Amino acid sequence: MENYRNLFEGLDLEVPLLDGSKTRYINFDNAASTPAIKTSLDALNDFLMFYSSVHRGTGYKSQLSTYAYEEARHVICDFVGANPQDHNVVFVKNTTEALNKLARRFPFTKERDVLITSVMEHHSNDLPWRQTANVVHVKLKKDGSLDLADLEKKLAEYADRVALVSITGGSNVTGFINPFYDIAEQAHAIGAQICVDCAQLAPHRAIDMLELDDPRHLDYVSISAHKLYAPFGSGALIGRRDTFLQGEPDMVGGGVVEIVTLDDVYWAEPPDKEEAGSPNHVGAIAFAAAVKKLVSIGYDKIAAHEAKLTAHALRKLSEIPRIVIYGDDNPKKTTDRLGVVPFSLEGINHFKVAAILSYEFGIGVRNGCFCAHPLILHLLQYSEEKAKELQAEMMAGNNVNKPGLIRMSFGIYNTIQEIDIFITAIKKITAGEYFGDYVQDVPTGEFHPKGWEPKFEKYFSIENYG
Ligand SMILES: Cc1ncc(COP(=O)(O)O)c(C=O)c1O
Repeated sequence: MENYRNLFEGLDLEVPLLDGSKTRYINFDNAASTPAIKTSLDALNDFLMFYSSVHRGTGYKSQLSTYAYEEARHVICDFVGANPQDHNVVFVKNTTEALNKLARRFPFTKERDVLITSVMEHHSNDLPWRQTANVVHVKLKKDGSLDLADLEKKLAEYADRVALVSITGGSNVTGFINPFYDIAEQAHAIGAQICVDCAQLAPHRAIDMLELDDPRHLDYVSISAHKLYAPFGSGALIGRRDTFLQGEPDMVGGGVVEIVTLDDVYWAEPPDKEEAGSPNHVGAIAFAAAVKKLVSIGYDKIAAHEAKLTAHALRKLSEIPRIVIYGDDNPKKTTDRLGVVPFSLEGINHFKVAAILSYEFGIGVRNGCFCAHPLILHLLQYSEEKAKELQAEMMAGNNVNKPGLIRMSFGIYNTIQEIDIFITAIKKITAGEYFGDYVQDVPTGEFHPKGWEPKFEKYFSIENYG
């Protein structure tokens, strides 16, 4: 297998363990955030000497900053296969901001319009719509994949009321990839548009928004740079220019206007109209440099590498007693899914498993509900009664029984050896071979070992920069 580790920052870092030793950190939490790819850091560092205001400055550095920022916009436009005549790239800070913006900027008629999403979604592709449209959730099959028959039924049921379908490209919990080009065709056939939340998909698969006259085109796409190896506070909403041309921007102030009088405002053309205030152009430049590198590595290679990791993980995990793997656990079917594997260990709290992995093995995973509460309740098959009981407990400040799973998620730099270390750790945990005395914190549900002192300041402290 190819090894991509030297392309990334910080992968050799050793972290302290509970027994006083150190070990090289293993990050299996890439579905949350990824380490920086060195090219994004290089671009950021190289750019900083030219750093200046964008758009409004006449000085050379300002002009260069504007040039680099707009170049970044072109790179992101190409990255998602958008046509700049029809789509605008709007820089935002992440997917959450992108989808909130679209929810406010899409011309919904609140009393009438229906937005179709699904039970599979990250809260960021559900809650914003609830504020501006009538949300209808498509059901899932037992394994957590989209129930396409239910989608078809709901599209027919609400036909002329469906204004937008917003669906995730890939699930951050199960790794299922949705057939979003087919869904786009179905949405367009009834006169609706489609938004694909590509936060999770973009680091692992190439995206092509296609031309607007193609019935399978994508009208809107959202992406986050921190999941694309450029953790510098950027992201993008790529969306239809005709939507941004109409109506008022959702945030107003500097940069979004042509003319302001005491009585009137004339809005600038999009994308400027959608980017109030000084943008994070440093983040956008680093973001564009990261995606350039991913494209040059090649998404076919990225997908193949991650499919091998996922197959290996599924094969090894299945040997562990009392494990339940959610979603699709077939190691022979890893080329059409993402490298995200959720599981639970019978009899051991998910918070505790994550804690032991961190404190005794130096492995970072995510546990809990992954900002997808409805999906987790679906996967765990809790009855409505049990869910209500737990909700009441949690609302009363007790998270001891908070439902959840453990999630491993891969990036292109992860290796088979890292998975093997992880599997050994999980085997030890299930056999009770850990030594920490773990205490659960009632308000958060988290476990911490007695006697642990993180000593973060030994590794990093802003004190050192004064
Ligand atoms: C599928 C999906 N959508 C949206 C988001 C939100 O992304 P961000 O936190 O970058 O706004 C995430 C984050 O995990 C995600 O996985």
